[in-house]
Amino acid sequence: MRLELINKRLIACAEAVRGSQTDYACDIGTDHGYLAAYLVQQGISRRVWACDINPRPLGFAEKTIAEYGLGDSVTAVLSNGLDAFPQPPAEGSFAVICAGMGGELIADIISRCGWADKAVLILQPMTKADVLRGWLYDNGYSITAETACEDGSFVYSVMTAVKRPPEYECGERYLSAGFVTAETDDGRKYLAMRSARLRKAGEGMLSSSDEEKRAEGRRLTALAERLKKESEGIL
Ligand SMILES: C[S@@+](CC[C@H](N)C(=O)[O-])C[C@H]1O[C@@H](n2cnc3c(N)ncnc32)[C@H](O)[C@@H]1O
Repeated sequence: MRLELINKRLIACAEAVRGSQTDYACDIGTDHGYLAAYLVQQGISRRVWACDINPRPLGFAEKTIAEYGLGDSVTAVLSNGLDAFPQPPAEGSFAVICAGMGGELIADIISRCGWADKAVLILQPMTKADVLRGWLYDNGYSITAETACEDGSFVYSVMTAVKRPPEYECGERYLSAGFVTAETDDGRKYLAMRSARLRKAGEGMLSSSDEEKRAEGRRLTALAERLKKESEGIL
């Protein structure tokens, strides 16, 4: 894989897979298959099943696999989520990667997989990260690691999760920013970005004639202030 083909966001996902110390991976929504190819090229995964629901992107993945001569270690599979795999495709430890999709779709894909509780989940939502964190909590999955990654004009969160009762509260800080901290530049940027979004939503509600909406606006702006302070290293 030529490094210019793989962006910072996918490298952050690959590093999360490395951290999972798993043997194999299923890359759901693989599209061009760059992440799948990178994982085997870097020796992070022994073998990867590169899955997509649509034949066209799967064709791109097949092209990538052929171009880099990875046919023995990367297999392209037409599949809605993990529906093509009633069981894990090999014996050993597994990472299931869902990157570049909305948080609700990721939650739906995980909920339909009968063996997700035995895998390490690497999740990178493009939207609705809060919905995904809430779903993980409600369904007995713990986030064991979460990092932020700035790529282009956006800052993404990459979560590692396993089926284990969470030993933390499902509070508003958890839902809005998970376990991202201000320890890294990208973490600070993620917190600042989340703060700005919450402030915008909250401020829009403060002038409402409905007291419940105003209360929600106060809650959101207070949370925005907390995340801003965290991003500035004040909290
Ligand atoms: C925006 S691309 C993300 C590609 C890559 N994972 C990334 O992060 O750059 C989303 C891909 O997910 C695929 N997809 C959408 N829903 C899916 C599903 N239910 N199961 C498998 N693939 C799906 C789409 O066809 C598309 O190729």
